[in-house]
Amino acid sequence: MPGVRVVVTGAAGFIGSHLVLALAGAGHDVLAVDAPGRNASEAAAAENRAVLSRAGVTVTECDLVTDDLVPLAEADVVLHLAGRPGVRASWGPGEALTYRENVTATGRLLTACARRRPRFVLASSSSVYGEAAHPSGEDDRLEPRSPYAGSKAEAERLVHRAAAEGMPAVVLRYFSVYGPRQRPDMAFHRFIEAALAGSPAPLYGDGGQRRSFTFVGDVVDATIRAARLPLPAGTVLNVGHPRTVSLHEALDRIGSLLGTPSPTVPKDAAPGDVACTWAGTGRARELLGWTARTGLDDGLARQIAWHRERVRV
Ligand SMILES: NC(=O)c1ccc[n+]([C@@H]2O[C@H](COP(=O)([O-])OP(=O)(O)OC[C@H]3O[C@@H](n4cnc5c(N)ncnc54)[C@H](O)[C@@H]3O)[C@@H](O)[C@H]2O)c1
Repeated sequence: MPGVRVVVTGAAGFIGSHLVLALAGAGHDVLAVDAPGRNASEAAAAENRAVLSRAGVTVTECDLVTDDLVPLAEADVVLHLAGRPGVRASWGPGEALTYRENVTATGRLLTACARRRPRFVLASSSSVYGEAAHPSGEDDRLEPRSPYAGSKAEAERLVHRAAAEGMPAVVLRYFSVYGPRQRPDMAFHRFIEAALAGSPAPLYGDGGQRRSFTFVGDVVDATIRAARLPLPAGTVLNVGHPRTVSLHEALDRIGSLLGTPSPTVPKDAAPGDVACTWAGTGRARELLGWTARTGLDDGLARQIAWHRERVRV
């Protein structure tokens, strides 16, 4: 996308920071945006900002809920990854914040973009499907089981409204993303840190939960393809690995890659934490020419290398 101005929101986050690095590395004109105090882990955000800064990228401070968003709407492409992720954190006191960062922020950003109509990509989530006994297709009925999933379904609705009004806006449903700089609340991050520190990490539920774990580099690739291609407005695409893996299997792989098991302590399953999310991948293959290429061992090895490096620093 030479000469194209790209805005990435949530740039100090896990996936957003990878996306910004990929775009900047390919020579794009990127405006990286995030808000101080809005990442659930400010330590993680600071690490991500430092990585971006070493690559010559400064994150511009902008709270999508309170600040003027007109400058962002000057872009040709808006990749909207900012939000408050996580099913567990969305219950109780987290619910209002989840709505604020996922729905109010998306609504304000779409409103700001309504006049110039840049190409717009929303980072939504597999959680909108609820339980899946078979691969979820994009046209399946949505059955959100948590405030987080509900907020993403609502953000998608806002995108569809904007698309109906002429904005070239699309939705990507990311499935359980992992890799270097994964958020500290996510399972692989906790398991790897637990093994390295020898102190147990919580294992929510019975460990039989299955996920289409998807490597962050593959997610970035799909997102850039979605930004480049002239997809019909309102297109929804699953961005997930076609194969599911249980948490127990992932724990085994982490243990054997590290040469030491990850100690865990059992915890009750979080409400809304479904037994299986499973990506149907036909549409992404057809419209983006994309499939997740990174196998679990390869992706985990890269995430483990990052954790080891952090311990050393
Ligand atoms: N990580 C996953 O497995 C996964 C799966 C499905 C969907 N998603 C979605 O992808 C996106 C990125 O996820 P992530 O794991 O990188 O999360 P993250 O928490 O690491 O990054 C999100 C970023 O958004 C920023 N943000 C929140 N509210 C903001 C506001 N009002 N204004 C400006 N910035 C704000 C935060 O500061 C944070 O840095 C999120 O929308 C998430 O819901 C992630």
